[in-house]
Amino acid sequence: MNADRSVDVEHPVFVGEPTQTHEPRVHAAWLPPEAFRSLGARRVLVHGEGLLVDTVLDEVSRACARYGGRVWHSPSWNVDVDLVLALRAAGELPNPAVEAARSAGEAALGDGEPLGDEGFLLARDGDVTVVLADAPGGLLYGLFHVVRLCAAAFDPTRPPERHRPASRRRMLNHWDNVAVHPVMGQVERGYAGGSIFWRDGCARGDLARVRAYGRLLAASGVNAISVNNVNVARTEALLLTDRLGDVADIADVLRPYGIRVHLSVSFAAPVLLGGLPTADPHDEAVRDWWAAATRRVYDRIGDFGGYLVKADSEGQPGPFTYGRDHADGANLLAEALAPHGGVVHWRAFVYDHHQDWRDRSTDRARAAYDHFTPLDGKFRTNVVLQVKYGPVDFQTREPVSPVLAAMPATRVALEVQVTQEYTGQQRHICHLGPWWGEVLRFAPWGPGGRTIAEMAVGEAGSGGGLVAVANTGDDPFWTGHPLAQANLYTFGRLAWDPRLDPTAVLDEWMTLTFPPSATAEPELVRRTLHEIMDDSWRTYERYTAPLGVGFMVHPGDHYGPDVDGYEYSRWGTYHFADRDGVGVDRSRASGTGFAGQYPPYWAQVYESPRTCPDELLLFFHHVPYSHVLHNGSTVIQHIYDTHFAGVEETETMRRRWRTLNGMIDPTVYERVAERLDEQVRCATEWRDQVNTYFFRKSGVPDARGRRIY
Ligand code: GCU
Repeated sequence: MNADRSVDVEHPVFVGEPTQTHEPRVHAAWLPPEAFRSLGARRVLVHGEGLLVDTVLDEVSRACARYGGRVWHSPSWNVDVDLVLALRAAGELPNPAVEAARSAGEAALGDGEPLGDEGFLLARDGDVTVVLADAPGGLLYGLFHVVRLCAAAFDPTRPPERHRPASRRRMLNHWDNVAVHPVMGQVERGYAGGSIFWRDGCARGDLARVRAYGRLLAASGVNAISVNNVNVARTEALLLTDRLGDVADIADVLRPYGIRVHLSVSFAAPVLLGGLPTADPHDEAVRDWWAAATRRVYDRIGDFGGYLVKADSEGQPGPFTYGRDHADGANLLAEALAPHGGVVHWRAFVYDHHQDWRDRSTDRARAAYDHFTPLDGKFRTNVVLQVKYGPVDFQTREPVSPVLAAMPATRVALEVQVTQEYTGQQRHICHLGPWWGEVLRFAPWGPGGRTIAEMAVGEAGSGGGLVAVANTGDDPFWTGHPLAQANLYTFGRLAWDPRLDPTAVLDEWMTLTFPPSATAEPELVRRTLHEIMDDSWRTYERYTAPLGVGFMVHPGDHYGPDVDGYEYSRWGTYHFADRDGVGVDRSRASGTGFAGQYPPYWAQVYESPRTCPDELLLFFHHVPYSHVLHNGSTVIQHIYDTHFAGVEETETMRRRWRTLNGMIDPTVYERVAERLDEQVRCATEWRDQVNTYFFRKSGVPDARGRRIY
């Protein structure tokens, strides 16, 4: 037997400390040291080798140093331990691992299916908890699972479990600019300070912060990041070539957390960077240019993930310039990436952004379906078509995009927006988990049929998975609003397993972020946070645009109410309110025909105001203010009632939050308290502008005689 190789906890094997120890001003989010108490107080054996095993060892070592536990690194298994984290393939297994592997096998977990690169088993053998994986990535995710479970990971009655991510890629898109954009700033739609990657045209070089970010993301399940905005300007285009070193530096610090780096690229790169006269996908020189540029990327970053492309959209270049379609465009890049195992995420967000508001026949909601469904089956296998959850643009409520169900021969990813562009910009509490849960559970072929979650996952994980626009920046709380951290965490967990209950995930987040062992009244704090957050998306919906009609936001910055802000604009987002009624007729019979883009069940449901669900009524129909909803109220009274209720709910949120004063970290308390004041102010503005607008249009008074201006 080999000699004992006990790890010196004073000098962790993996050099480098997380940011929070260097910079206390950075909030620990869902990985405060206290979350590691249960693990850190135990005797732990780590078995296996590899970069990500080093990360595991480092995490365990630091936790044990803090909480009095002990850690050994194999080969050294003649020791009494409480927890074994072992790679199955790493030669002879320590005894408890052998037993646990056997009992997990007897429980027929996964019917012998491989665990893959990221899966793990957790089983008990007598007094020992064992995590087994086939690859270092699995061990890392297993470790964070143990952290999440806290003491429950050591419950003797815990039955064996098997975990594997539903999708191979769980990706965050950063809309970070390298050079500050004159209108959009450093981070487009960013509400959490500057970028953690870039500042004023350069790489920030603060790789400790990036590393701490990678650690948080790994603990949530995210394993891919694109590091620059989908709107690619000249400076950002250079990341592919001259500035590739900056991308490589980021990749180096994220690698120990199992995260791969992707780049947003400009479709015009061969012209912009290569000096070619064209970027035509059928041009031989263009193909050669992409092949050579991509080869250079992989020479530098061997595990580079791939490209993300916004083409022919809101002014970005694309294949339409050359009379080619989006399959031609996507396949050009896919071909360059294929020899290296890379993927191209090609966005389906393509529409006419120079629409004439007078033209009632053009419907932005139809655009992605009209452009992309004829191309189904034409994309290379390493293309993922990235589709926003709704047909318009990340609204608080939209129907689920019909494109997601209409491309069976294409790998499709669901794109959600964690950054709260249209949902309160991280000044408002708006927990988005329940909304994403609704989208994921939607069954496009009708109740009981396959769901969006199943589609995104695909057969044996072959789908495009989940992608999100990140909500993080260099803000000390990462996300501006401390409670917006929950949205990021929830995204990662749902990307790992879209069947998870978002409220249960929120509970997990609370336990990690406000650890009971460090909280005076843990149950009270938990209950209050649930009361504030669980229904906060619906509260936000109540005081903003009604019944699925969307927008009504202030043009440009998209914050706060402006009912007609986009009504006579070129952006294709109208509500058509007049003295008699409001809403967009998207029926086949008399409207734009968008309802007909769904499979028959929903096409029929959405076609008629009689069957259309209330919450989407104005998305699909133009109805009189007197129209009676399924809930028994008229449209106009519903508008009044929800807007009054929404503001009251924000006031209740604020009152509840105030009861937590003194019970949680005062900096978190203060930041949230400030933002709740703003939320109440802004919600009141929404209520009064929306109610007044519709009262003036309709002339119908509030049945309850409340104050409308
Ligand atoms: C929205 C957003 C833009 C963004 C775009 C996109 O329109 O306002 O800032 O560029 O979405 O998804 O590409």
